[in-house]
Amino acid sequence: MDFYDEEKNVESYVQTAEGYDGRELVDVLKKHLSPGSTVLELGMGPGKDVALLAEAFAATGSDRSEAFLRRYCRDHPDADVLLLDAVTLETERRFDAIYSNKVLHHLRVEELRKSLRLQAARVNGNGLVLHSFWYGEGTEEHHGLRFTYYTDASLTAVIGPEFDKVACARYTEIDEGDSLWILLRRSCSV
Ligand SMILES: C[S@@+](CC[C@H](N)C(=O)[O-])C[C@H]1O[C@@H](n2cnc3c(N)ncnc32)[C@H](O)[C@@H]1O
Repeated sequence: MDFYDEEKNVESYVQTAEGYDGRELVDVLKKHLSPGSTVLELGMGPGKDVALLAEAFAATGSDRSEAFLRRYCRDHPDADVLLLDAVTLETERRFDAIYSNKVLHHLRVEELRKSLRLQAARVNGNGLVLHSFWYGEGTEEHHGLRFTYYTDASLTAVIGPEFDKVACARYTEIDEGDSLWILLRRSCSV
C-alpha cells in the first residue's frame, strides 16, 4: 500500500501543508497560458492548487491516491477529477497544460523521464507543462516515500526532445531557495 493510500497519512499531510499553496506557480502559468485553457493537475493532494488554477483556467484535478480524491470530492461533489498515476497517465483526455506541485520528486528519475514523454502526448499542440520540485541533490526515503532533489542542470538532463525549456527558477516554500519550478513547451520538432 502506498503512503498516501492511508487516510491517517492524508490527514497528517493536510495539516502539515496548512498555510502553503502553489499561488506563485499558478501565477507563472498565467503569464504563459491564455485564460480558459484546459489544465490538468497531477498529484493534487488536498486540492488547493486546483482551486487556484480554476480561477483562470478549466482545471481538472487528479491523484494516484483515492483517499485524497475521496476527501476532495466530499467537499466538491461536482469537481472534475481523475484517478491518475503520473507515471502511466492512462487517460484519453488532452489538455493545454499539465501542472504539478511537489509530486514528481516522488518518482524515480527514469519514471520522471517516462512521465514527461507521456505528458508530451497528452498536451495539445505546443502545450505547456509546469512542475515544481525540492531543490538539491540526491535521493532520500522517508516512510517509504522517495524524495529526489533536483537542480536546474539535473532536471534539464531528464528532459527529452519532446520538450523545450521555457524557464526554470528557484523559489522559497519553507526555507530560502528550497524549491525549483520548471516550465516546458512541447517541441515543434517532434
Ligand atoms: C507532497 S503531496 C503534494 C500535494 C499537492 N500537490 C500540494 O501541493 O499540496 C504529493 C502528492 O502526489 C501524489 N502522488 C505521488 N505519487 C504520484 C503518482 N505517481 N501519480 C500521481 N500522484 C502521485 C500523492 O498522492 C500526493 O497527493
